[in-house]
Amino acid sequence: MSPALFTPIKVGRLLLSHRVVHSPLTRRRADADHVPVPLMIEYHQQRASEGGLIIAEGTLISEDCGGYPFAPGIYNDKQIEKWRDITDAVHDKKGFIYLQLLHFGRASASAFIPGNKIPVSPSAIAISDKNGVGEDYEVPRALETEEISQIIQTFVEASKNAISAGFDGVEIHGANGFLIDQFINSSSNLRTDKYGGSIENRARFVLEVVENVTKAIGEDRTGVRFSPWSGFQDMEDDTPYETWGYIVNQFQEKHPNLAYIHFIEPRDDYLPGYNPEVDRTEILENDTIEPFRKAWKGPFITAGGYTTTPKRAFETTERLENTLIGFGRTFIANPDLVLRLKNDWPLNKYDRSTFYEGGSVGYTDYPFYNPEKVNGIKS
Ligand SMILES: Cc1cc2nc3c(=O)[nH]c(=O)nc-3n(C[C@H](O)[C@H](O)[C@H](O)COP(=O)(O)O)c2cc1C
Repeated sequence: MSPALFTPIKVGRLLLSHRVVHSPLTRRRADADHVPVPLMIEYHQQRASEGGLIIAEGTLISEDCGGYPFAPGIYNDKQIEKWRDITDAVHDKKGFIYLQLLHFGRASASAFIPGNKIPVSPSAIAISDKNGVGEDYEVPRALETEEISQIIQTFVEASKNAISAGFDGVEIHGANGFLIDQFINSSSNLRTDKYGGSIENRARFVLEVVENVTKAIGEDRTGVRFSPWSGFQDMEDDTPYETWGYIVNQFQEKHPNLAYIHFIEPRDDYLPGYNPEVDRTEILENDTIEPFRKAWKGPFITAGGYTTTPKRAFETTERLENTLIGFGRTFIANPDLVLRLKNDWPLNKYDRSTFYEGGSVGYTDYPFYNPEKVNGIKS
C-alpha cells in the first residue's frame, strides 16, 4: 500500500496525485521590471511532477505594493505573458501551479515604490529592524478606511491576472508579517475603525480579500496562508488561538470550498539567525496549529520544518486526513524532491547564500539524483 503522502487528494478543482507541495519561495530572479525571466521556467519545470502542486513565490499585486527588487509581479501584460511560459511548462509535465499574491504593506521601503511613496499599513507603526536598503524601517502611513476597498480590488485584479496567466489558482499571502498579517495581529493594528480593535475587525480585511477574490475566480481556485507563531517582521498577537480560530471558523462557515488553508508550523526555523536552543524553545513546546486544522474540514497544508525532518511528512500524512505537506528549503535544493521522497533517496543540502541571489547558481543547478554520485544527506 502507498504511504498516505503518495495518495491522491482533491484540492479545489485539481486532483493531485500526491501531497508533496512546493511552498511559496521568494527567489528574486525576475528582471528589474518585476517580469519573470526564462530561468524561472527552468526552475519550475525541474520541480514540477505529475499531479503535484507548486505554489509559486510571493508575487507583487501592484506597482505600489512595495516589495523587493527582482521579485516578480502580476499586474501588467508583460508579466502575465511571461508567467504563462512558466505555467505552460509546469502543465506540460502534468503538474499544477498556484501563484501566491503578496502586498508588502509596511515591510517595504519607499525606495522600492514608484514616486518614493511611503509604505502603507493598518497603523503608523514601524518594524523595529533594518529594511531592504539597510536603513531603519520607515514609519508607514496608516491607510484611510476608504482606501482599503481599493487594495482589496487590487487583490481581485491580480487573481484574475493569475488565471489569465494560466495559474490553476492563487494563494492569498496572509502570513509572515506582510500587509494582511499586519491587519490581523494586535501589535501592528491599532485602528479604531471597523478594520481594527476586536478580532472580528482585525480579521475583516483578510475575510473581505478572500470574499472578493473567490467571487472573481471561485472558491475552488483560492487558497490562503497564515503563520500565527511567526515573529518575523515584528508580528505578535495577544490571543493567537482566538484570532486565527475565528478566521478559520469564518472560512469554514462562509467559504467551505476554498481549495485549501495553509498554516506555517510553530517549529518553522527557516529564518536566518534562528536558534532553536535560545529563541523559540518555549514556542516549540507549547504552541500548535492543531486547533486550526481541526476547525477546517477541507484540504490543509502544513509547512515548516519538514525540510530538516522529512520523515515527519510521512508520519503526519498517515495520522491526519486531508493533509498536505509544504516543503521550502529542501525543494530549493532538490529539483526531484518528489521522487527522492518516494524512493527514499538521499537529499541535497541547501545553500542559504544563494536563496535570494545568484542567477542560475543555487537556483537551477542543484543536481538530480544520480546513484553513482551520491553526496547528499539521508532523509
Ligand atoms: C528563500 C525562502 C523564500 C521564502 N519565500 C516565501 C514567500 O515568498 N512566501 C511565503 O509565504 N513564505 C516564504 N518562505 C517560507 C517558506 O514557504 C516555508 O514556510 C519555510 O521555508 C519553512 O519550510 P521549510 O522548513 O520546508 O523550509 C520562504 C522561505 C525561504 C527559505
